[in-house]
Amino acid sequence: MRTIVSMPGDGIGKTVLPEAIRVLEAVGFEANYVNGDIGWDFWIKEGNALPKRTIDLLSEHKVGLFGAITSKPKDAAEKELDPSLKGKGYVYFSPIVGLRQHFNLDICIRPCISFKGNPLNFIRRCDNGFEEPMVNCVIFRQNTEGLYAGVEWTNPPKMVRDALETHPKMKFFKDVASEDMAISTRIVTRQASKRILTAAFEYAKKYGYKNLTLCEKPNVLRETSGMMFKLAKEIAKDYPGIELWDTNIDAQMMWLTKNPENYGVIVAENMFGDIISDGFAGLIGGLGFACSANIGQDVAVFEPTHGSAPKYQELNPSIVNPIAMIMSACMMLDHIGENDKAKKIRSAIAKVIEEGKVRTYDMMKLKGGADVFKYGACSTQQMTDAIISNL
Ligand code: NAI
Ligand code: MG
Repeated sequence: MRTIVSMPGDGIGKTVLPEAIRVLEAVGFEANYVNGDIGWDFWIKEGNALPKRTIDLLSEHKVGLFGAITSKPKDAAEKELDPSLKGKGYVYFSPIVGLRQHFNLDICIRPCISFKGNPLNFIRRCDNGFEEPMVNCVIFRQNTEGLYAGVEWTNPPKMVRDALETHPKMKFFKDVASEDMAISTRIVTRQASKRILTAAFEYAKKYGYKNLTLCEKPNVLRETSGMMFKLAKEIAKDYPGIELWDTNIDAQMMWLTKNPENYGVIVAENMFGDIISDGFAGLIGGLGFACSANIGQDVAVFEPTHGSAPKYQELNPSIVNPIAMIMSACMMLDHIGENDKAKKIRSAIAKVIEEGKVRTYDMMKLKGGADVFKYGACSTQQMTDAIISNL
């Protein structure tokens, strides 16, 4: 039997992950779940939000489900640390970023697919009223490099400054003192770009998408976007049935609301992928619906894109939407070849949404709080129950 590392993390991560497991069990997916410690509690108690024992569990079992974590700025984190650990040089790092880096989970997949009948679906004005374009877009975000690789400085050391001065465009900054300068680099490699592009083309082929869009900005970021663009053109030759489109990130954000239904698979660098996937998620219902996969060569971790929503963590019964987490579990099933079970769960979710009788507070556009039930919202558990009864 397969073992899945279950990492609920913090806040509502602890609420939604058990709901996903309930659905996995109901659909007949047989697995052992081992608990992986991760998140704020472990930062406070141990000075490490991502204990080595959790990394070891993932190394052994390869597949993880992750809820959400709470992150706070460096100083706030230091303040909450157990008194016995203070001043000993512990520094807080986001454990999910840590996981992506440790296991080189370089391919992030974020599907944004509308459910029929979702009251949060994007609508658009047209000649005779309004229309509701069905979005079916899957974003492939490079997950480890680019602007989020973390190679950055405030007051760059002299060596770095000197190296940069070899570039003619540095003339513009020649009178700025290093201590008045902050630098974040955007490093893109041929290897990682090839991997994300190939994974995206393969996905498009497998699931029948007719176009793949590289969303970058090669006219300005001539080197990094330029390299990705050249590679995309080369790789596209091996996929004759799939049209290669390219858009600039800024223009794409505008087209998002003009013709979102035209896009199939989209590929982008880390930060642009982060932006574009939030943009598309907004069209299909927002954080309660946004699922994701982080896939490396060896290990894969599946998680909703939302955070720990601390303001709702204490509510009992819970009000948050478990669908993003459950859909992330479906991506896990696809990854390990249990596609039929994933399909069953997705159709059950589709039925519940189309029927429209059971809706979490976000689907009713209510302000979150303990009183949402009196307006007819269902609880997290009731949403899961409805999905299970439609399996
Ligand atoms: P958040 O995603 O936790 O919540 C933002 C708002 O979105 C919530 O207040 C709620 O209104 C709504 N929301 C989120 N999940 C929902 C769900 N399942 N159903 C219905 N509504 C939902 O983001 P926020 O408030 O910016 O951050 C809170 C904490 O989470 C921070 O400590 C942040 O660092 C962390 N975070 C962690 C992430 C992760 O674990 N991957 C991602 C984003 C934020
Ligand atoms: Mg984001």
